[in-house]
Amino acid sequence: MSRNLASRCVIVVGAQWGDEGKGKVVDLLASHFDWIARYQGGHNAGHTVITGGRKHILQLIPCGILSGSARAVIGNGVVIDPAALVQEMDALEAANVQLEGRLFVSNRAQVILPYHRMLELAAENAPGRIKIGTTSRGIGPSYEDKMGRRGLRIADLFDADLLRTHIENALREKNAIAGALYQAQPLDAGSIYERYVDYSRRIRSYVTDTAALLDQAWRAGDSILLEGAQGTLLDIDHGTYPFVTSSSTTAGGGCTGTGLGPTRVSGVVGVSKAYATRVGGGPFPTELEGEIAEHLRERGNEFGSVTGRPRRVGWIDLPLLRYAVRLNGMESLIITKLDVLDQLAEIPVCVGYRRGQSAVEEIPATVAEMEKLEPVYESLPGWQTSTAGVTQWAELPRAARAYLDFLASRLELEIGLISTGPERNEAAWLPHTKLQAWLGVTAPAKASVERVKAKG
Ligand code: IMP
Repeated sequence: MSRNLASRCVIVVGAQWGDEGKGKVVDLLASHFDWIARYQGGHNAGHTVITGGRKHILQLIPCGILSGSARAVIGNGVVIDPAALVQEMDALEAANVQLEGRLFVSNRAQVILPYHRMLELAAENAPGRIKIGTTSRGIGPSYEDKMGRRGLRIADLFDADLLRTHIENALREKNAIAGALYQAQPLDAGSIYERYVDYSRRIRSYVTDTAALLDQAWRAGDSILLEGAQGTLLDIDHGTYPFVTSSSTTAGGGCTGTGLGPTRVSGVVGVSKAYATRVGGGPFPTELEGEIAEHLRERGNEFGSVTGRPRRVGWIDLPLLRYAVRLNGMESLIITKLDVLDQLAEIPVCVGYRRGQSAVEEIPATVAEMEKLEPVYESLPGWQTSTAGVTQWAELPRAARAYLDFLASRLELEIGLISTGPERNEAAWLPHTKLQAWLGVTAPAKASVERVKAKG
């Protein structure tokens, strides 16, 4: 079958350290796509979506599942803790979200087992280890087993003998390591096996070859959105290593993590907050402390949706965003949480870095060099008017538009959409953008005309 020209495939990536608001963005874009697929990470992600006043936190299942008819795929690049998946499926069904015929789980995705979590927790606190501040979900150890070619894949859950043998063999090794190095209590193979057999029964009808499914969909002219988790600066190769997650969060991961080839991708959209946040350890050049940090943290409700940890906060960082634009081949940017800046009289923007007297052009590869960077700021006037819930670009205060125009011109890409609140309809579309073309719309999308909240 030859390519149907109507096919669209758009990758949505976090342009910072995760928590950019991708959940809300994907939920908003989902109505323009037939398929939404996750391609990396696991239940370390926490996408918060608020629809009709109801809050959903999705960790594994793509947020597109909440939007009408879209079908949701968990791709081969994801690491799946079946306990977390089953819990999430139960919660969605309890909220009357239909899963049968709409949720598809890759038979090639890796499985997280309880010993991954045990090893991660034990190792993170071991003397001499760099404290990454992980989400303690076993993500890193599970990707280690994948790359070490000793992992268990979803398809293996349905072969009882293989499953039992795998767990017994793996535990012999993991219990020995965890006991010898970290004095951890051994785990019992029999009870893990029983639990995983139960999980496998619950998920069996959802498991399939999702790469083949997405290929068929693309050939039939369907539109596909690939939903990134975490963010560019947490990418295993390009992020602030070793303070990163263990997967390819950048757009390239969208292809390896779903099986869709690069020629299928129509465009890449980045998501960034109007400021910056980071959870866990690692370099953060524009980090703030004190009163202003508290102000942004409180207004932005910057507490992790998975771990509840307070997020570190800072000013928007254009050198790092330019890095994200380059790595992802990003051509459109979505800005979230603009309203968090509403009360500020002026807003510093990091426009470059110096070290001593010299300007630094490239992002350094080491943490030590990153920590020596001195951000160079330009201050822009604040607007000191509420932008919460604004749904039209023209309704934004002049200074807010100037702030966004400044970001777009310094990053040399379009801003396609501004999010001004947690609800699906609290967003302003910019007309005639690449983003709109990728969504298959030319006129402003429906959400933009729904409501303009009272300002002030
Ligand atoms: P891991 O992914 O649990 O291994 O954690 C590695 C690093 O990535 C830690 O600094 C985490 O805080 C961070 N991280 C993982 N998932 C997310 C996320 O969804 N949002 C923000 N940070 C994350």
